[in-house]
Amino acid sequence: MIRTRFTETFGVEHPVVQGGMQWVGRAPLVAAVAEAGALGMLTALTQPTPEALAEEIRRTRELTDRPFGVNLTILPTITPPPYDEYRQAIIESGVRIVETAGSNPAPHLPALHAAGIKVIHKCTSVRHAVKAEQVGVDAVGIDGFECAGHPGEDDIAGLVLIPAAARRLSVPVLASGGFADGRGLAAALALGADGITMGTRFLCTQEAPVHDKVKQAIVAATENDTELILRPLRNTSRVASNRVSREVVERLARGAAFEEVRELVAGARGRTVFETGDLDAGVWTVGTAQGLIDDIPSVRDLVARITADAEDLILKRLPALVDA
Ligand SMILES: Cc1cc2nc3c(=O)[nH]c(=O)nc-3n(C[C@H](O)[C@H](O)[C@H](O)COP(=O)(O)O)c2cc1C
Repeated sequence: MIRTRFTETFGVEHPVVQGGMQWVGRAPLVAAVAEAGALGMLTALTQPTPEALAEEIRRTRELTDRPFGVNLTILPTITPPPYDEYRQAIIESGVRIVETAGSNPAPHLPALHAAGIKVIHKCTSVRHAVKAEQVGVDAVGIDGFECAGHPGEDDIAGLVLIPAAARRLSVPVLASGGFADGRGLAAALALGADGITMGTRFLCTQEAPVHDKVKQAIVAATENDTELILRPLRNTSRVASNRVSREVVERLARGAAFEEVRELVAGARGRTVFETGDLDAGVWTVGTAQGLIDDIPSVRDLVARITADAEDLILKRLPALVDA
């Protein structure tokens, strides 16, 4: 059993987190992750209203009595969702762990902390990690350039970003971006992290509520098969390479404005991919970790394998390399 400051502080068996995933972080997956002894996150904005989120939290509770969290992604948009009401729904539902991402969590911290909720803020740079600790978060997740979704604009891969952040922080650190197996977990711990957060690997499990064709596409894909869209707009997102994402990259490279790609990148189209398995229906989020994935295990088997392999590496393979 691997114990870290993260497992101790958050009361979770294994130092493994399933990060928020739009359209994917729903009750069946999150409960399976909790039952496997890891920390799953419901994704607040996958639910159309705060009331629907409260209902999804209830549904998850029916499936597990182990701890789980909720991801609250706070993105600056023209018509923002009612973040405060989502936050209130989380608080009133008695959830004890929240993952924030997207922008500074400070406005949400007093209410969350007053309710006894521990906050993990996920960010993509050392400066934002340090800022998050200063404003009082309980742990920091640090997403390297490898990650699915928003890697930021600095393009620093985890191998440098994780230790660079860890050496500046006092709170527990979760490494994310590119982790998919026990080697990754052992490496993250060696780099100074207290655990890992994974998205892509959990997306390709039996319990992930997405069409089987999506999972098979991840198994077939290599680490080269992602695109970074919206780069010229400084709102980079790593998604699967498909007809739509390549079209977005090409249009923007030719100088197109956001209006000319808006319809292509619509979230509703990405949701259609997950629901129908039509892989070219829109852009859908996936990371370079897909190059390390070649099966569709149950969450239970996946978490057991990752932790057992990491323990084996730490206890056997690595010590055997040392000529003491
Ligand atoms: C399908 C999908 C949807 C995601 N949606 C969100 C989201 O809504 N909010 C968020 O903070 N992170 C989101 N992420 C990022 C993950 O929480 C995590 O940070 C990332 O996947 C880590 O990189 P990895 O995919 O290499 O493991 C998403 C990832 C995936 C694969």
